[in-house]
Amino acid sequence: MLAPMSGVSDLGMRRLARRFGASLAFSEMVAAEAFLEGDAEAAVRAEGEGVSPHAVQLVGREPAAMAETARRVAGAGAEIIDINMGCPARRVSGALAGAALMRDLDHAERLISAVVQASSVPVTLKMRLGWDAASLNAPELAARAERVGVQMVIVHGRTRAQFYEGRADWTAARAVVDAVSVPVVVNGDCASLDDAVAMLTCSGAQGVMVGRAAVGAPWLVGAISRALAEGGPVRLPGVDLRREAAVQHLDWLLGKLGVRAGLRHARKHLAAYAEAAGASAALRLELVTTDDARRATVLLERAFDGEILEDAA
Ligand SMILES: Cc1cc2nc3c(=O)[nH]c(=O)nc-3n(C[C@H](O)[C@H](O)[C@H](O)COP(=O)(O)O)c2cc1C
Repeated sequence: MLAPMSGVSDLGMRRLARRFGASLAFSEMVAAEAFLEGDAEAAVRAEGEGVSPHAVQLVGREPAAMAETARRVAGAGAEIIDINMGCPARRVSGALAGAALMRDLDHAERLISAVVQASSVPVTLKMRLGWDAASLNAPELAARAERVGVQMVIVHGRTRAQFYEGRADWTAARAVVDAVSVPVVVNGDCASLDDAVAMLTCSGAQGVMVGRAAVGAPWLVGAISRALAEGGPVRLPGVDLRREAAVQHLDWLLGKLGVRAGLRHARKHLAAYAEAAGASAALRLELVTTDDARRATVLLERAFDGEILEDAA
């Protein structure tokens, strides 16, 4: 599965991830209060045209606001609602949402229950191992979540206190697997088929979620998935398909956000596509600084030329 990534897993990327075989692709987190206030960015994040199943992640603290958002998002076509209890950002945990909910499991359970009750579609829960090493309560939260109706649990193998430091502890996710009977997905530092196999073996989980390694490579998730299912090595799509997909992603951003905002938002994707394709530093620099949409497209196409030469060699 493609992980929810704020500012990254936009609809353009989710479409590509699904098209190339990811089982699920989660939206960027949608802040419930902002969504209910009619915030335009929150609305865009929750869009899912052309992605099925359409999985929307919500973040917030207040059960009523989260429930109402879930009701509306499902009414607008979401097929899965995920609740964010893993975000470590101070902006989010300072508002006592995201991973901060792991510090108050009674409140977390009330929130989950409210969202499940309000949702006509399956609800999933994404969490960390706990707030810090002294409070590894993911198994308890998962068990409570299952009791109130959550249908899948995703565990990022770090505590909130770790942010993104160190290595994700895949073995620690086993306690979550043991605590519930719903499927568990393990997440954190998956960049290859070997990682995915190790994650599943260490944790006993049923699925793997890929985040950062899929930036600039939305096809990676499906390629790993296929290799897991069928055996054999990871086979990436050919360079023509990858170039075309990257350009489609840029086109989607430009069409959705306009040239200025579209190019600004696209930068992290463009940099990642170009780096993964082995483009020169000079090309990458121009690609992420140009404010000309046409030029960006030409450069993005050209970024893959090195691969064509390599392919031909
Ligand atoms: C830029 C960025 C944005 C993220 N935004 C979210 C988010 O909106 N919701 C969420 O649950 N996790 C978010 N995460 C965490 C990822 O979903 C994932 O748990 C984490 O990156 C570990 O997986 P990885 O090592 O495969 O990247 C974000 C991570 C990154 C790098």
